[in-house]
Amino acid sequence: MIKTISYLGLGTMGSGMASNLLKAGYKLTVWNRNVGKCEPFAKKGARVAVTPADAVRDAELVMYSLSNDQAVEEVVFGAKGILNGIKPGQIAVDMSTVRPAMSLREQEAYARRGVDFLDAPVFGSRNEAARAELWIMAAGNQAIFETVKPVLEQLGQTVHYFGKNGNAAAMKLIGNLIVALEMEALAEGLVLAQKAGLDLNTVMEVVKVADFRSPLLVSNGQNILKRDFSPSFALKLMLKDAGLIEKFAGSLQSPIPALRLAKKNLKSAVALGFGEENASALIKALEKEAGVEVKAQ
Ligand SMILES: NC(=O)c1ccc[n+]([C@@H]2O[C@H](COP(=O)([O-])OP(=O)(O)OC[C@H]3O[C@@H](n4cnc5c(N)ncnc54)[C@H](OP(=O)(O)O)[C@@H]3O)[C@@H](O)[C@H]2O)c1
Repeated sequence: MIKTISYLGLGTMGSGMASNLLKAGYKLTVWNRNVGKCEPFAKKGARVAVTPADAVRDAELVMYSLSNDQAVEEVVFGAKGILNGIKPGQIAVDMSTVRPAMSLREQEAYARRGVDFLDAPVFGSRNEAARAELWIMAAGNQAIFETVKPVLEQLGQTVHYFGKNGNAAAMKLIGNLIVALEMEALAEGLVLAQKAGLDLNTVMEVVKVADFRSPLLVSNGQNILKRDFSPSFALKLMLKDAGLIEKFAGSLQSPIPALRLAKKNLKSAVALGFGEENASALIKALEKEAGVEVKAQ
């Protein structure tokens, strides 16, 4: 049974997950590029490591949630990276959203050091991470998955096994393709409703109950009406994911015409300066074009 864990990357998602590992009683080491984010964990008894290589030295299990492929490149493969500290018999789990090709590259590098690896990205956002209610997918060696599963169950409400390395990363991109199109559809619908002079609260009442309802549409729609764009999933991260989906689908010659259009809108919203806001701020690009602001009356 796993007892000692290192968690690297204490951003929106990682901080919630690391807190839940502490609550579950694991002996925890943390590392974050901006060391200030480690302080609350130090106060609760976690060891704060000075480099990724140092972070992984005593842990049976090493987990990380980092922004993108480039961050994984630095934290895993960099001069003071995980690969310079990790030892045979340890297990590494990447919970970031990265290209399946990156997951495979990680798996190969770890295997050369006698380390097992799972790609285990998540669905859910800040609240689900904080409440241990994430939807987690994992891929890699099945026996290793079974060893790590009890830990993942402390972080999420579901844990699905996807077979060989890279498959969970692929599932994450497929899910985010759907998320991006839902967000685009919501934004287009609300702007049109505003232009048509409909009562937006009543519009959202219907979105909440009709057969096309989804929790994602409801929470983002309600926040748009309140003009609350505080980030739980940053717009710039959704644009990053749209780029990953494009590359992944391109590598398999799978058509994604709608995603390409949604990506254009995400790009416009980032160019307008909304990249740090929540992904729902993509509506601001459409609002600008339409000359309206979607707001509850
Ligand atoms: N937020 C969501 O709703 C959500 C949902 C599902 C999946 N995800 C995925 O989960 C991952 C983390 O997302 P998040 O929302 O937690 O992002 P975030 O709040 O922006 O945190 C990103 C983390 O990555 C670190 N980082 C970035 N670049 C780095 C670099 N070059 N070297 C070292 N560390 C670096 C940051 O360190 P600093 O603190 O020093 O900047 C921070 O710890 C992403 O892959 C995202 O796509 C997010």
